[in-house]
Amino acid sequence: MSFQPQEQVDLRPFNTLGISAHARYFTCVRIQPQLQAALRWAMENDQPWLLLGGGSNLVLAGDVPGLVIRLEMSGKRVVHEDDEHVWVRAQAGENWHELVRWTLEQGWSGLENLSLIPGTAGAAPVQNIGAYGVELKDVLEQVLVLDALDFGLKQLSVDDCQFGYRDSLFKREAGRRVILSVDLRLRKQACLQLEYGPIATELERRGIQEPTALDVSDAVIAIRQSKLPDPAELANAGSFFKNPVISAEQAAELKQQFPDMVQYPLAAGQVKLAAGWLIEQAGWKGRAVADAAVHERQALVLVNKGAATGAHVLALAAQIQADIAQRFGVRLDIEPVIVGAQ
Ligand code: EPU
Repeated sequence: MSFQPQEQVDLRPFNTLGISAHARYFTCVRIQPQLQAALRWAMENDQPWLLLGGGSNLVLAGDVPGLVIRLEMSGKRVVHEDDEHVWVRAQAGENWHELVRWTLEQGWSGLENLSLIPGTAGAAPVQNIGAYGVELKDVLEQVLVLDALDFGLKQLSVDDCQFGYRDSLFKREAGRRVILSVDLRLRKQACLQLEYGPIATELERRGIQEPTALDVSDAVIAIRQSKLPDPAELANAGSFFKNPVISAEQAAELKQQFPDMVQYPLAAGQVKLAAGWLIEQAGWKGRAVADAAVHERQALVLVNKGAATGAHVLALAAQIQADIAQRFGVRLDIEPVIVGAQ
């Protein structure tokens, strides 16, 4: 298959932070032979490549050298079912939230807590998307990848993917494996996860006592809409920092100093802190560097009010990191992937 990429393409429409930066070469792929042709072209021409899904977990620090490959393979279908479960295969380019709602409308549960997360099905394993007590790894069966080293197709199990909190093999070895499709294991009888506070409160507010998976999805959508800005209206990349995990000892000391500090005990003597709480307490809500600002309603989200560059966003992030380290002795790690010349 002959291959001719576009040149000098502005990536602004392809990242939800709305940053303008140019890809030296750019292409969209809808079928596997196009993907293979694009990778072969990059290798033959000695160009690095960057795989792009919905661009919702990305900070463009500057222009991107090499070839940007936007994955747009579409399609979803049932591949197997038994009395309890149904296994759905979604191609990488499927919109995540549309997939979630489609499965719920068929009467299958498992994805309801992961409603309204921006991005594509193929990007979901990269950062092991998670919300309200559920992570992708809890519902994932396997991931079909194309290995760029030998062009071989491989099915990776959940163990193979080495998932962590907003982390995976795909994030650590970016570009090596192209995710082609994901297989999700859904339930015919709902087994709802309602422990996460705001969901129960929202269902109660709606007067729902015996919720269905669709009710939970509706509640999650309402909660997210109440504090997370819609990237279509106010550009952002979701949570900009990971919630830091510290020792129980340090957490206890901090609790003495700051009795209201939000803390979630984890196994193994560790405690997760709410980065949004730390950033809000430090007075960052609404503060800005040029058009890059801390969201007014959720301090963990950085927004682009119009013409922010990657440098503006990263300068704001660095100021926040330094301040949080100084006030609380806690390191904040950036959550989205940073690409492009800085
Ligand atoms: N909080 C504040 N001020 C803020 C923001 C949060 O005090 O400005 C407090 C809240 O009141 C709450 C706690 O911090 O007590 C946690 O806040 P929230 O429930 O909004 O969740 P989060 O920790 O800020 C995480 C995920 C989100 C996910 C939600 C719900 C990370 C980095 N973020 O946010 O994921 O939707 O929990 O499960 O783990 C994403 O990864 O992009 C993302 C949006």
